[in-house]
Amino acid sequence: MAFTYFFRDMQTLDMIRDHIIPSLRARRYINIWDAGCAMGPEPYSIAMILRENMGKMIFRNVKIYSTDIDGSNLFGEIIKNGLYPKNQVARIPKDIFTKYFEPTDKPDHFRVVTEIRKCITFQKHDLLTLRPVRKNFDLIICKNVLLHFQLEQRIKVIKMFHDSLVDGGFFVMEQTQKLPGQVQTMFDPIVSNAQVFQKLE
Ligand SMILES: C[S@@+](CC[C@H](N)C(=O)[O-])C[C@H]1O[C@@H](n2cnc3c(N)ncnc32)[C@H](O)[C@@H]1O
Repeated sequence: MAFTYFFRDMQTLDMIRDHIIPSLRARRYINIWDAGCAMGPEPYSIAMILRENMGKMIFRNVKIYSTDIDGSNLFGEIIKNGLYPKNQVARIPKDIFTKYFEPTDKPDHFRVVTEIRKCITFQKHDLLTLRPVRKNFDLIICKNVLLHFQLEQRIKVIKMFHDSLVDGGFFVMEQTQKLPGQVQTMFDPIVSNAQVFQKLE
């Protein structure tokens, strides 16, 4: 089910801001995979958090590969257009909304500004194929997706994520998801009580 909303799981986004962005800022290119992104509020929220905490020049090097199995076949267009109805943007903090959304000709719809839209691509992708969309990601975010999989599938997908990260790359899940015991030695938890990890060799 593609339930999602802007700035969902704010505590995790705060962890990304405080513990991951300082390290990402030092990298030449910043490649991020948002796996199971639904129709875009999540990758757009991440892009806005990054932009808020990075200079304009560094942010130009950010690329967010957002992917989803997308049973509706609609997410690609929605994400590309970055156009969302008023009720979906109503709870975004006002300062963020003012900076990163603009009014449109369509009544009661707002569009994500070009600078943010430019860094996000969408691709239909089934995580259970266990084929990554590319390698050498600096950060992989997979929130509220793995809970739909069997334990064995979850372990295989997490191993694929590990293999798709650069050395020292980061992996983030939702607060309520736990890393299965079988893959715990592959990651270092960078914050206690949060599902924010760094790849171990
Ligand atoms: C509850 S939504 C979570 C969206 C977003 N990550 C969030 O936390 O707001 C779960 C998403 O996982 C996607 N999904 C389910 N199975 C998948 C699979 N095998 N491969 C890729 N995406 C999948 C669904 O299409 C849906 O958009």
